[in-house]
Amino acid sequence: MSTAQQQTKCRVPRSMELYARAEQLIPGATQLISRRPSRAAKGVSPAYVARAQGARFWDVDGHEYIDWVSGIGAIILGYCDRVVDEAVRKQIETGVSYSVSHELEIELAEELVSTIPCAEMVRYAKGGGDACAVAVRIARGATGRDKILFCGYHGWHDWYLAANLSEEATLDAHLFPGIEPIGVPQSLKGTAIPFEYGKVASLSAALDQHRDEVAAVIMEPLRSEEPPEGYLQDVRDLTRREGVPLIFDEVSTGFRLSPGGVQPYLGIEPDMAVFAKSISNGYAMGAVVGRREVMEPAAQMFISSTYWSDLIGIRAALTTLREIRRRGVPDYLQDFGRRIIDRMNETAEETGLAARCCGISVHPHLEFHVDDPAAGRLLATLYVQEMAKRGCHGYPAFYLNAAQGDAELQQTTEAARETFTILRRGLEEGRLQDLLEADLTQDVFRRAVR
Ligand SMILES: Cc1ncc(COP(=O)(O)O)c(C=O)c1O
Repeated sequence: MSTAQQQTKCRVPRSMELYARAEQLIPGATQLISRRPSRAAKGVSPAYVARAQGARFWDVDGHEYIDWVSGIGAIILGYCDRVVDEAVRKQIETGVSYSVSHELEIELAEELVSTIPCAEMVRYAKGGGDACAVAVRIARGATGRDKILFCGYHGWHDWYLAANLSEEATLDAHLFPGIEPIGVPQSLKGTAIPFEYGKVASLSAALDQHRDEVAAVIMEPLRSEEPPEGYLQDVRDLTRREGVPLIFDEVSTGFRLSPGGVQPYLGIEPDMAVFAKSISNGYAMGAVVGRREVMEPAAQMFISSTYWSDLIGIRAALTTLREIRRRGVPDYLQDFGRRIIDRMNETAEETGLAARCCGISVHPHLEFHVDDPAAGRLLATLYVQEMAKRGCHGYPAFYLNAAQGDAELQQTTEAARETFTILRRGLEEGRLQDLLEADLTQDVFRRAVR
């Protein structure tokens, strides 16, 4: 138990007990780093869930929370969506994985091709990193080149972590600082090269330096901020001129900005795009889509896995995508996100806390305006801690889903009013540290793409 937790009674004893058990059996204790308790307010935040419904979940200690992380982005319609779950249940009754293919595979491909601007052909996967690895393999195979220029986070696979084999630890700005590429073959050194988001000169210089060797440029087109004016068009023009396939990793933005992903919202068409998470409202699924010319050579490549055509993911994706469009989810989320931003900013003003809520409507975040970075980190942890105690789970950010509504906004505003007041007083009285009942949040995902 941490010092902070020793001073107060642990709020989530069952969660902490399970975590200790997991540490003995599961290296790293969780399968996803973002689910480690150290990423929230360890000792106060929930670490283990018992069940979820709509916008909320209940932890193993019996507390109820509004989930402002939306299953790390995977939940877009809300937990246990009646329509998606019913479609999946019905699918289970007739089988989910067979010895031959099922028509649904084609039906989902048709759906993706009809809604995503760059999509002419489609391959499936089971998650975001998985789909990125497929996209990179296809691009390498289609171009006959090896090097990948990247910006942002693209999963755990060798092709990506190879970036940290170079002396400069290049992922420091794109992922977590200090990642050791343990287990990644040294021979991949120099094959994954980062460029800086928002500055086309950075990409242009990398393309010049590695002329005729680059198989693809893969990037998160945006995450929680609008891209700089004209930047993505410049990236598109440059990659087209250089004859290098451009891949948009839309795993985190998903279908929150439009039913066709981020491309209709931005008005930019890459050559390929990668989807997972919100494509299927929490069921395991991933997809790689792209122009025929880039995708078709994949027919000659060995890219093959039993569960990529499992019908739970495919049925869930097909139903989720149709429900996103039918319910007008992107418009709802954008409007709701703007209301959150307004409410949080009003609350910060009312309570006198130097904080601002900003960023794109579907993924706004809080910024605490203090000069000392240590105080900023303390404020972020205390925010997570105090909001958790008031039934709001999350980081100083909001990942939206369509089950969140007026009741969630109201409860969260009230919780923020109390939390901001505690933070403001703690700052004024110089006793932020004394307020800590949890461990300090470990460096959150450092994003090159904001
Ligand atoms: C942009 C992006 N790409 C890839 C991934 C990896 O997805 P997964 O965790 O499903 O492998 C993530 C996960 O957060 C992501 O945000």
